[in-house]
Amino acid sequence: MEKLSVAEARRAEAIGRQVRLQGWVRTRRDSKGGFSFLELNDGSCLGNIQIVAEGALPNYESEVKRLSAGASITVEGVVRQSPARGQLTEVQAERIVVHGWADPETYPLQKKQHSFEFLRTIAHLRPRTNTFGAVTRVRNCVCRSIHHFFQQRGFLYIHTPIITASDCEGAGAMFRVTTLELGQVPLRGQQVDYTRDFFERPTYLTVSGQLQVEAFACSLGKVYTFGPTFRAENSNTARHLAEFWMVEPEMAFYELADNMQLAEEFLKQLISDCLAQCAEDMAFFNERIDSQLLATLEGIVSSSFERLSYTEAVQMLQQAGERFEFPVAWGRDLQAEHERWLTERKLRKPVILYDYPRTLKPFYMRVNDDGRTVRAMDVLVPKVGEIIGGSQREERLDVLTERMQELHMNPDDYWWYADLRRYGTVPHSGFGLGLERAVQFITGMANIRDVIPFPRTPGNAEF
Ligand code: 4AD
Ligand code: MG
Repeated sequence: MEKLSVAEARRAEAIGRQVRLQGWVRTRRDSKGGFSFLELNDGSCLGNIQIVAEGALPNYESEVKRLSAGASITVEGVVRQSPARGQLTEVQAERIVVHGWADPETYPLQKKQHSFEFLRTIAHLRPRTNTFGAVTRVRNCVCRSIHHFFQQRGFLYIHTPIITASDCEGAGAMFRVTTLELGQVPLRGQQVDYTRDFFERPTYLTVSGQLQVEAFACSLGKVYTFGPTFRAENSNTARHLAEFWMVEPEMAFYELADNMQLAEEFLKQLISDCLAQCAEDMAFFNERIDSQLLATLEGIVSSSFERLSYTEAVQMLQQAGERFEFPVAWGRDLQAEHERWLTERKLRKPVILYDYPRTLKPFYMRVNDDGRTVRAMDVLVPKVGEIIGGSQREERLDVLTERMQELHMNPDDYWWYADLRRYGTVPHSGFGLGLERAVQFITGMANIRDVIPFPRTPGNAEF
C-alpha cells in the first residue's frame, strides 16, 4: 500500500489506487444510510479529501462516529471518482485508525470562522486553519523562489552573524546580547564594564546582515544573505515585527540603476512563482481576503515599476491637493500615508523612490554629486508600502569617514568595514527585502503578525 498525501489523492491519477492517508479530521457528517463522511486534511494542500466510512467498519460505532474536528487518523482504502460536486476523488475507507482525539468541548478550532486576533492567542493551533495553512505554503514558496532566483543568477548564499557589535542602520533600536546578571552589572566608574561580558564588548542581535555581506560581495562578486533580523523599535503597527526575516543581495560593480533593475525582476519572480506554484492557495486569498489580489499581482508582473526621485515625489505630494496628517517638505521623511498615496492612488503600481536627502539615510549610502542626496532606493507597493530598502554603497574611504563623523559614529569601530574601501574598493550596491512584507503583499493579509509562524512584537513572545 502506498502512502499518499491528500494533495496527491485529490488528483485524477490516484483513482483506483489502494492508499494510506494520514492527517486531521476537519468535519464529520453522518448519513441516514448508516455511514459517515469525513473531511481529512494533512496540510499538503488547501483542500480536504472526503473519506467515506461505511457502517461495516469494525470500529464504526465505537470510534468513527465519535470523530470530531482536530482528531488525527490513518485511513486505508481505495481512491475512487467522487460522485459529489466540487471534488474529483474520494476515498472508500477499509480501515481507520485513530491516533488522537480532540475533545469538542475544549478544542478551540470549531467550525465557525475565528478572527485573526483570536487565532493569535492560539498561535500553536492556528496552522490547522485554512488561512494559516495557505499562508505557510505561500511563505515556503517565496523562500524557495528567493533561493532559486539568486542561485540561478550565480549568487552565493552567505551566512552572516546574528550576534554583532555594529549597528548597521544607525536607528539605535537593537536588542542587547549579554551574559551579565541584570541585578549585578560590573561597573567601571559609572559605565558598564563590558570587558567582563561574554564577548568583552557590547553586542546586539543584528538588524541587518549587510555590513558583513559586503565583505563577501567585495571579494566574491554577487552574494546574498537571508536570515532573521531583530529590531527593538516600539512600533505596534500592522507592518512591523521585532523579529523578521530579511533577504539581502549585495553585488560588486552594480550601480543604483542595476540595483533597481534587479529588485524589480526579483519581486516579479517571487509573485509569478506564487501564482504558478500556489494557485489553489492564491485563489483562496483572492476569494476570502482581497478580491482584487490576483488582478493586482498579475498586473504587477506584466508592467514595469515606476521610478521617481525623492525630490519628484515630494513635488507630486505637494501638488496632490490632499490633506495629509503629516506635512510634506523636502528633507522630511515620507510617512506611510505619503507612500501609500503615491503607490495606491497616484501611480497605482509599485514605485521605486531614489536619491533621498542624506540626512534621512544611514552612513553607508553613496553621496551624490549634489552633496545633498544619497543613492538610496525604496520600493513601495500598494497596501504594504515600503517592501524593499537599498542603495549604492559609499565606496570612497574619505567620504565614508566623513559621513560616519557627521552621524556621530566612531570610525574606529568600523575599521574592518573601512578596509573594504582601503583595499581594492569597488562600486557596489544591494538591498533588503522583508520576507514578511513580501508574504503580506502576495497573500493580501492585512496584518504582518499573521504571516509569520510565531510573531514577536512589543509585549508578545509567549509561544
Ligand atoms: O530599509 P531597511 O531598514 O534596510 C536595511 O536594513 C538595509 N541594510 C538593507 C540592505 O540594503 N541590505 O530594511 C529592509 C526591509 C524593509 O524594506 C522592510 O521590508 C523590512 O526590511 N523591514 C521590516 N519588516 C518587518 N518588521 C520590521 N520592523 C521591519 N523593518 C524593516
Ligand atoms: Mg527602509
